[in-house]
Amino acid sequence: MCSVVGYVGHRQSCSLILDGLSRLEYRGYDSSGFACIDTQTRHLGCTKAVGRLSNLVQLLQKEPINGNVGIGHTRWSTHGIPSERNAHPHFDCHKKMAVVHNGIIENYQILKAALQGEGHLFSSDTDTEVIVHVFEQEYAQTESAKEAVLRTVEQLQGAYACVLILEDQPDKLIGIRKSSPLCVGRGKNEMFIASDVLAFSGQVEEVAFFPQETFAFVAADAVEAYDFLGNPVSLFFEKLDALWITAEKEGHEHFMLKEIYEQKSAIYKTVASCSSLGASLWEKSGISSDAMKAIKRIKIIGCGTSWHAGRIAEFFFEETTGISTTAALASEFRYRTFFPESDTLYIAISQSGETADTLEVVRMLRQHGQTVLALTNVASSTLVRECGGFLLTQAGPEMAVASTKAFTTQIAALYWLSQRIAYERGKITQEAFEHAQDALLVAGEFLENGIDSYKHQIFEKLASFYANFETFIFLGRHISYPFALEAALKLKEIAYVFSQAYPAGELKHGPLALVDDQTPVCIFSHPDPAIYQKILSNAQEVASRKGRILSFSFEGQKELQTLSEHSFIFPTIHPHLSVIAMTGVMQILMYAIAKARGCEIDRPRNLAKSVTVE
Ligand code: G6P
Repeated sequence: MCSVVGYVGHRQSCSLILDGLSRLEYRGYDSSGFACIDTQTRHLGCTKAVGRLSNLVQLLQKEPINGNVGIGHTRWSTHGIPSERNAHPHFDCHKKMAVVHNGIIENYQILKAALQGEGHLFSSDTDTEVIVHVFEQEYAQTESAKEAVLRTVEQLQGAYACVLILEDQPDKLIGIRKSSPLCVGRGKNEMFIASDVLAFSGQVEEVAFFPQETFAFVAADAVEAYDFLGNPVSLFFEKLDALWITAEKEGHEHFMLKEIYEQKSAIYKTVASCSSLGASLWEKSGISSDAMKAIKRIKIIGCGTSWHAGRIAEFFFEETTGISTTAALASEFRYRTFFPESDTLYIAISQSGETADTLEVVRMLRQHGQTVLALTNVASSTLVRECGGFLLTQAGPEMAVASTKAFTTQIAALYWLSQRIAYERGKITQEAFEHAQDALLVAGEFLENGIDSYKHQIFEKLASFYANFETFIFLGRHISYPFALEAALKLKEIAYVFSQAYPAGELKHGPLALVDDQTPVCIFSHPDPAIYQKILSNAQEVASRKGRILSFSFEGQKELQTLSEHSFIFPTIHPHLSVIAMTGVMQILMYAIAKARGCEIDRPRNLAKSVTVE
């Protein structure tokens, strides 16, 4: 997604904003721009560049613009191609005010046509530009910035986090938030505004989040905030967790590699944090122990990798707690017929806690009085603020767009929760619950041991071999099918290789026609002997069509290993935890293939880490 950063204070805004934008570049990176009120001329100066932020940095190094109040933006285009013309900031007709924006103005075409009819001149193809022209119009009429914002937000439909800078009010910025996240960082006689606290990069110790549908005049020493009805609201400042503002690669070539290696420790921290909750779990999760005992259905909502974690957790909840569980894609769930049910627990999963589709489902569920538990990695996220309760994963900041440690910690937390609910409902003993917690840590060990055992083979031999193929089929059964979905997603995201995951049982209903010696078939086995036998039959179907099999198997699964061109072998473990054991090797393999293909890895083309538009 796009990211916005603003600064008002006593220092030069340019380097601070560029530094902030570089930390948010993960959200979007096809063009960028900076504007500030020039200290000398007192007018707005602006520079924009297409491509990576480094292009903007170079331009500003050659021709600096100095000013203490500024705004900046990195763009992930939705409306209008990536170009200098469409890069933010966007200006009013007289270049006296500018805006940077994250989100989508859904009714921009109607607004634009009306404004053009009144003589407004537009310079881009973006939806964003209407914001500043609507504001310009209303400001001219009301001569009050507050009134103008109120009249502007009345007209804008969609989601937006934006920052306005006005030449005639050179000591402040205006931040406006509807749905998309926006926060303000408070320093000593200086303030930042940004889409994500990461932008403050060690500059401030306190942060406040704009509540839904609010705006604020942000000056160096004060913040004056209002809701969309014009009532004053207070922003609540809290201390920033240092961990979240110092994410570095620490010697690794990519964030993704570093994050793959952090998984054992992240699982450990997640289990420790969950179990430290004790009886307070029920209070934190917003559902009492009695209500938990009465639950008849669990519905999990998420997008991308978080949805895959939810699909995997279906097996945990159904087989451990006996509660019927389904995981749905947020973007699909929203447009299906909704049946409110009082005995359903909803779990909304989101690494960032800012994914627009997931948040919209949560809002709809809450309006219907449903119980929604957030599972997220970011304690300060919108998801936590909008759900009835929350459970946190402890992955730490995940910077690579492709999710790795967030995925394993989500699985660990969901597995832990399923065991905890089973214990609460009298399905398992305390001893069994404690054993399950230990087993999670063992799975984390297996994950790391797998990487250690196979990384040389993968980097030195397998990656360059598999990097030559343009299509892959991934097969799994039972819990290894959603795992196959995640593996296929990783390969698509970072190596740009078309890959399709199928339930192995569906092979003969179509995908078998695709099997040839140009399409590797990656089979994820299962520790359960009965399921393994079925997977083996599927592998034989592939082998007899001269398909090249790459398998992830378990000790003793000799037949599958013999049929495979390459096989990674894992210690036998409970089926529910087998996916954790396989995760490290799967991710390293996809990473190494992407690297062998010369891909960018941490910031794949066209993608963004946090998708804050629907
Ligand atoms: C984007 C990211 C994925 C992520 C998905 C959901 O597509 O690139 O890695 O799985 O969003 O994000 P969330 O923060 O809600 O888990």
